[in-house]
Amino acid sequence: MDPVPSPSIAAPESTIPEPLIIVRHAGPLAGEVIVPGAKNSVLKLMAATLLTDGTFELGNVPEIVDVSIMAELLGAIGLTIVAPERGRLVLTNRGELTPVAPYELVERIRASINVLGPLLTRCGHVRLSLPGGDDFGARPIDMHVAGLEAMGATFKFSHGYLEAFADRLHGAVITFDFPSVGATENLLMAAVYAEGSTTIHNAAREPEIIDLCDFLIAMGANIEGVGTASVTVTGVERGSLRPVTHTTVPDRIQAATYLAAVAVAGGEIVVRGARPAHMEMLLTRFREMGVVIEGSADGLVVVAPERLRSIDVATLPYPGIATDYKPLIITMLSIADGVGIVTENLYPGRFRYVEELQRLGADIRTSGHHAVVRGVRRLSGAPVRAHDIRAGAAMVVAGLAAEGATTIAGVNHIDRGYDDLVGRLSSVGADIERVAPTS
Ligand code: EPU
Repeated sequence: MDPVPSPSIAAPESTIPEPLIIVRHAGPLAGEVIVPGAKNSVLKLMAATLLTDGTFELGNVPEIVDVSIMAELLGAIGLTIVAPERGRLVLTNRGELTPVAPYELVERIRASINVLGPLLTRCGHVRLSLPGGDDFGARPIDMHVAGLEAMGATFKFSHGYLEAFADRLHGAVITFDFPSVGATENLLMAAVYAEGSTTIHNAAREPEIIDLCDFLIAMGANIEGVGTASVTVTGVERGSLRPVTHTTVPDRIQAATYLAAVAVAGGEIVVRGARPAHMEMLLTRFREMGVVIEGSADGLVVVAPERLRSIDVATLPYPGIATDYKPLIITMLSIADGVGIVTENLYPGRFRYVEELQRLGADIRTSGHHAVVRGVRRLSGAPVRAHDIRAGAAMVVAGLAAEGATTIAGVNHIDRGYDDLVGRLSSVGADIERVAPTS
């Protein structure tokens, strides 16, 4: 195939008036937060509805901008999507699909790449603009492409679009050199209608991937090895799958955000809906930092220590510490007792928010993919900017630990992945408000 260039995703900062989040130190926090459904699951479940005709219902859908963008994208392809009430989406596929994903929508959301597998296997042809995403470096799609090529697809790249062709995909044995979340999901969805069996070795096994497998199995797909590093999908005839009703798995990253919030602000909260089994490694590390975490009937009870203790952390694919937790961990280390070394193994460029934390008085040095964080007693509030979803959440958490006001710009990033972060935090006693843009 033609070489696939990595999309350039750095965008200039907006000069248009934008909302701000203002947060001040307040504590101790107390009460209960309910964890919404996972962004990184629901977007893929939505893409999977391309696979067959009928009406699907998704529950526990987070109210976030990325879901709206994905709905717009799927609408442009031919689905009808309505949200009859908060947390619920009804998606109808009448089989009249135009397998083209336009630039204007794809550039806004990385998960648009997830329509590639289902559209190709369903329609035999896809024309997809290269995906955008977050501002932390190039995010290639070579593994998606190589995997589909092994299954018989051919690709053409021109004018910023990737075109894929395959009358019917066939099974293959694919070994990833890295357990890519997106590539695993795309190949799983593509394989459901392939002729024969497809095995993915070194597959990603995040809880969101298990959620997608459960969804596909309920639709009638034949998948073995769910949740392990070797997954086998045996193809069924096109059109033999059925639509389903499904509840999205709770968001472990949003859950971790509330854990981090109480850990820095002090107090005790219940994080309802958090699934401890999906966050085991993180909970172990948080406990090492002194946070007291107990399981409750439906979630976690979290108690902040007098002062956090520093630890060293390295990000790794699941079940390791997710890269998406890292901005929260670095924020916690910023006020912990001691020195912590954080190593990023997934996105070397994902340290941009460190400069913002330094503006709040954090003592952090980065070198390559390492950050050395020397804990200080207190941060001090200042204006900062969120450059991606998780960095935005970390700014909010940092603001909870800072004296004075922290004013956060780039709130649009937070809105992409957080369902009412401000409301949820203020309901447990945080001093936080969202201020509308002034022109
Ligand atoms: N990679 C390649 N080639 C590929 C695919 C991935 O080199 O073909 C590299 C990437 O460049 C990156 C690493 O592999 O360095 C991880 O990529 P992966 O494919 O696993 O991630 P993704 O599917 O693009 C999802 C989440 C991210 C999360 C990562 C890792 C969604 C929509 N996004 O991205 O979430 O950081 O997995 O866990 O599911 C977020 O929610 O804020 C977010 C960025």
